[in-house]
Amino acid sequence: MNEHTLSMRLERVAANVPAGARLADIGSDHGYLPVALMRRGVITAAVAGEVATTPFYAAQRTVRDNGLEQHISVRLADGLAAIEPGDGITAISVCGMGGETIRDILDNGKVHLSGQERLVLQPNGGEQPLRQWLMDNGYRILSEELLRENRFYYEIIVAERTGAVTYTDQQLYFGPLQMQARSPEFLAKWQRMLRQKHKTLASFEQARQSVPEQKLQEIARQARWITELLA
Ligand SMILES: C[S@@+](CC[C@H](N)C(=O)[O-])C[C@H]1O[C@@H](n2cnc3c(N)ncnc32)[C@H](O)[C@@H]1O
Repeated sequence: MNEHTLSMRLERVAANVPAGARLADIGSDHGYLPVALMRRGVITAAVAGEVATTPFYAAQRTVRDNGLEQHISVRLADGLAAIEPGDGITAISVCGMGGETIRDILDNGKVHLSGQERLVLQPNGGEQPLRQWLMDNGYRILSEELLRENRFYYEIIVAERTGAVTYTDQQLYFGPLQMQARSPEFLAKWQRMLRQKHKTLASFEQARQSVPEQKLQEIARQARWITELLA
């Protein structure tokens, strides 16, 4: 993967960034996503935010090598603190991190959100708490995508702030739109998850003393939901 050829995962993220956007890519690592989108003429400007110095320098190098310093600002900052008021950001991507980390980045950086930005989020697990945050903060999920690359399943969640929105517990767990669409990848993912839940429950059964009852009940409830989903 590089700024010319994105991974399939980042390619699908790229497809959800609106044409003409001013993008803030938070946790940009090498900066491949904003640089690729700028090279393709999809976006008009970008901020690449990084909290760690090694990826920050890598992003600076990618931007410099492509002569895009006038269009992409690379900033060393924690989460949405990379966004400055004058940036006029219209889309924010946060990709390749756990859903809880993405949630915390959004929550800690609320002051930097105008509410007009499209969020393009690609969590690696932890989708449920992330969707919970979106609901609690008035963001409607506009599209959801599930793809499989190198044996891993990746979700892409696109959301915009629209005002109050309500999702059921199951919709927060499975994804409201994925639940409706029931794509082959979605069903395969949850078949695999159900096998894992059963294995976990079996191992809990053996070590009953040391497993908190609440944890046991939670996994059992999830296994029940998945069974109902697949029925
Ligand atoms: C696994 S990489 C993903 C890179 C790229 N977004 C992708 O999807 O391929 C996660 C990056 O997020 C950065 N990161 C983690 N927490 C962050 C935060 N609070 N603010 C900014 N960057 C963060 C890490 O330093 C790391 O470079």
